[in-house]
Amino acid sequence: MTHSGHGLEDHLQRVLFTPEQIAQRVAEIGAEVSHEYAGRDLTLVSILKGGVVFLADLTRTITIPHAYDMVGAASYGASVTSSGQVTITKDVDVNLMGRDVLVIEDIYDTGHTLKVICDLLRLHNPRSLEICAMLVKDKARDHDLSIRFCGFHIPDEFVVGYGLDHNELYRDLPCIGVLKPEIYQRG
Ligand code: IMP
Ligand code: MG
Repeated sequence: MTHSGHGLEDHLQRVLFTPEQIAQRVAEIGAEVSHEYAGRDLTLVSILKGGVVFLADLTRTITIPHAYDMVGAASYGASVTSSGQVTITKDVDVNLMGRDVLVIEDIYDTGHTLKVICDLLRLHNPRSLEICAMLVKDKARDHDLSIRFCGFHIPDEFVVGYGLDHNELYRDLPCIGVLKPEIYQRG
């Protein structure tokens, strides 16, 4: 695995996806999106803060004209399980009316965040609204949303890296991995 030099990789119990595997999958999704949305008015809408690493990579693999923007949502706080309470901290700035909107999210966990964000975005009257999630946790959920593009399916474990954090750390890890339990327990 590639080391970025700050030693945070040592906090991982195991690596699920290397930077190379992630880059390859992102390129595949970028090609699919470019094909699917050719001739349409695509706007990517990423969810702060976890989704922006994926957005930054994905936007550069998409070969058709498109815009991007961001919405803000916070759900976890300092915990490793979802609170179920989602706070919207920022709406989009661009006009989404009649646009084909693709939501770019780091992970589909309980679905609370994506449900609230999709409800918000629908108020802007887009022509279409679909979801692209880098990771999908395989688990039972209250909100079954349809995920149009998915990077990888993962088991129901707490993962970090590639935008995903624990207490705001590890977002910068270039790989995706499972955090060592002793680090959760330390808080
Ligand atoms: P949901 O609302 O439960 O689907 O959770 C969505 C948000 O919780 C994601 O955007 C992430 O920021 C965070 N999240 C969910 N699962 C994980 C995880 O395994 N690691 C880090 N953050 C997570
Ligand atoms: Mg988070």
